[in-house]
Amino acid sequence: MTDRLSRLARSWDEAAEGYEQYFVPRFAPWVQAAVDAVHTIPFGMVVVPCCGTFPELELLAPWFPDRRIVGIDLSAEMVRLANLRAASLRAASLRAASLRAASLRADGVRAGGVRADGPGAGGLGADGVRADGLGAGGLGADGVRADGLGADGIAADGVGAGGLGAGGLGAGGHGADGLGSDGGSLVEVVQGDAAALDPAWGAAAVVSVFGLQQLPDPPAAIRSWYDALRPGGRLCVVYWPEFAEETGPFALLDEVIDGRRDRSWEDALIPALDGAVIERDELRSYPMVHPSAAAYFDAADRSGPLRATALARGDEYIAELRANYLAKAPAGEWVHHPQARLISARKPLSRAEAAPPTS
Ligand SMILES: C[S@@+](CC[C@H](N)C(=O)[O-])C[C@H]1O[C@@H](n2cnc3c(N)ncnc32)[C@H](O)[C@@H]1O
Repeated sequence: MTDRLSRLARSWDEAAEGYEQYFVPRFAPWVQAAVDAVHTIPFGMVVVPCCGTFPELELLAPWFPDRRIVGIDLSAEMVRLANLRAASLRAASLRAASLRAASLRADGVRAGGVRADGPGAGGLGADGVRADGLGAGGLGADGVRADGLGADGIAADGVGAGGLGAGGLGAGGHGADGLGSDGGSLVEVVQGDAAALDPAWGAAAVVSVFGLQQLPDPPAAIRSWYDALRPGGRLCVVYWPEFAEETGPFALLDEVIDGRRDRSWEDALIPALDGAVIERDELRSYPMVHPSAAAYFDAADRSGPLRATALARGDEYIAELRANYLAKAPAGEWVHHPQARLISARKPLSRAEAAPPTS
């Protein structure tokens, strides 16, 4: 691994827990938009370069319950949290499957006439299982509801405590259909450099959110992700462009850092997808709320992209930057509407489909 890459990996190792807490909920609408763009795909696996803690998985797994879903990330700590997320989903799915089986058994008993004869209130209630002891913490009126998988559901399986935590994955409930019809062992998280994928992946979809802008050669990366698709497969990439907003916490950070970045690569992304059917190339904006300018700055420093700068330039530089930032920032809660670029493309089924129209 080059020095640059190992420093980047270390910065995301340090950021990972805080990233999950602070940024994952705030970035959720863009993750949703990326996953929505690959709903219709041929048979095959889904690959997620730069998956971080793998928030994409929660949306992909219910949609593609019987597929291999592979996340790739450079950072060992991100991979650890992504594996916890996968394990939580798997536990939720297994629990849902067993509850479903219990409900079916109960239905069988009812259908066989037992209920009419007597287990009544003490046995199988109107909703099949609930009255019989799975009780308040377990099932809703229909017997197997997703939100039956509450905080204690995940924690009881020993998955919650390690980091993504009861508040994160547990309490929200992932939906009973988390992974695979068998409770699924179809998810993998691989630690590695996702900047170039082997075309042999032959993926049905490649989805990547907020990773592209960190790679050394984004046009080459997006091309390799596209090349890793099978015919008919879909790619969706979302990244933060140079101008994510005119004013706001992101713009102010750029201003105080005053690091002129070469973003000429942004113009090279669509040309790099030569031969693809470009389905969308648009800016997506959603509201984002920060409790204060200091809260955002500290999250970016400890749990976000500023971590790599902090490692490279040291604490004194960050302290000075923070003072400049706060001197220029508004007081109180800060709401903004940053825009990220979403590119989605489909690999044509044949050369003829790929050829541009002649007239
Ligand atoms: C901002 S996070 C995004 C994570 C996730 N996709 C999301 O939307 O929350 C960017 C991730 O890209 C990863 N990353 C950066 N460069 C990478 C590379 N060359 N190969 C694989 N992962 C990389 C980082 O480790 C980090 O976890």
